[in-house]
Amino acid sequence: MQKHSFEKRRIKCLLLEGIHAKAGAALHEDGYTATRTLPKSLAGDALKTALKDVHFLGIRSRTEITEEILDAAPKLTAIGCFCIGTNQVDLRAAALRGIPIFNAPYSNTRSVAELVVGEAIMLLRGIPEKNALVHRGGWTKSAEGSVEVRGKTLGIVGYGHIGTQVGILAEHLGMRVIFYDIAGKLPLGNARPVSKLNALLAESDVVTLHVPETANTRNLIGRTQLAHMKKGAHLINAARGTVVDIDALADALARKHIGGAAIDVFPVEPKGNDEEFISPLRKFDNVILSPHIGGSTVEAQENIGLEVAEKLIRYSNNGSTVTAVNFPEVTLPEHAGTGKCRLLHVHRNVPGVLAHINEKFGRRGVNISAQYLQTNEHIGFCVMDIDASASEVAIDELQTVTGTIRARLLF
Ligand code: NAI
Repeated sequence: MQKHSFEKRRIKCLLLEGIHAKAGAALHEDGYTATRTLPKSLAGDALKTALKDVHFLGIRSRTEITEEILDAAPKLTAIGCFCIGTNQVDLRAAALRGIPIFNAPYSNTRSVAELVVGEAIMLLRGIPEKNALVHRGGWTKSAEGSVEVRGKTLGIVGYGHIGTQVGILAEHLGMRVIFYDIAGKLPLGNARPVSKLNALLAESDVVTLHVPETANTRNLIGRTQLAHMKKGAHLINAARGTVVDIDALADALARKHIGGAAIDVFPVEPKGNDEEFISPLRKFDNVILSPHIGGSTVEAQENIGLEVAEKLIRYSNNGSTVTAVNFPEVTLPEHAGTGKCRLLHVHRNVPGVLAHINEKFGRRGVNISAQYLQTNEHIGFCVMDIDASASEVAIDELQTVTGTIRARLLF
């Protein structure tokens, strides 16, 4: 149990995996000067040793945070995943230890959208096969089958953060934009919603996929859906590898029903840069293949660095857990500081905790000026503002509240 609010310069941050320098700079600027950065990920005993006295940890996708690692990090207060996914962290185990996990799900939206629009242009001009041929010494100077994107129809499947951006960029190039989404979505610009996936497939010159990986999106584009696409139309997938049945796509390409494709994500991807990429799509010159880099740009890395660092800073300074992936989200007013202190109390989600706290505080004369509570299925997160003079009493009382996981004090 932490009884005192730490000075920022004593709060230890460890940033692994070459996280963008903007993250360390943002922390430093806010007063978190005890930050150590390492270019690589750590595992096993090396990670446990490094985490012994660390309060805030920053990782990307390679550092695995298991229950065992969390147990070796008694001071760990929050983890920032400086990436999109959070599968590398045992989210439940972290929540049950009172550790919120933050990530940056939308920092690379624009990067993906730009790539998709560029690929649509390349595909409609037949550049992938022309490029391959010229590399082999061939020369096919001809306008045949080469068309502008202007006036063509782009069908967007999944009109979320990326899908909408793609739509806006494509309209600026003069494309007609239609979209299909399972949720009701406000069309941007002149985009037109289509109520059935097959109708979108039948109308589009280029189909681009921007859905998440769910049970419903598994093989969303299979043999039947490909057959619904116009002859010679193109398919772009920069969403998730499981969304397209790759064998069905290879078959449709071999039969020339599909004119070309740009695929960035695959059902099975190499684990590292040394492993060979295996796919039936390798043999097609009219398919742009990229190694899951849709969102990988310098700008996206920079955005991610800033976004996650700011979330860690907000949690540390203010207790705000907005956008945490494993924690009840509590939006809080700025912590006033002078004369007041803020208590953060994480507890197992069992009935009566709030009543228990209020009864104890009431008995000891601790006056609560503001109180916020949110719960999820595992834990509850309660934030209270009280007079600073009552902080010692309050934190002692909190220790005895049934179900308490962790309590922290902010002055
Ligand atoms: P988002 O959550 O903002 O949007 C997804 C949209 O898909 C939502 O509007 C949702 O209602 C819709 N949707 C869900 N199931 C659907 C279905 N069965 N049919 C039609 N629509 C459906 O997600 P965001 O940020 O736009 O990302 C989209 C995809 O892009 C995700 O799969 C993400 O993993 C992937 N991605 C890929 C990157 C890369 O490097 N290639 C980088 C970033 C994201």
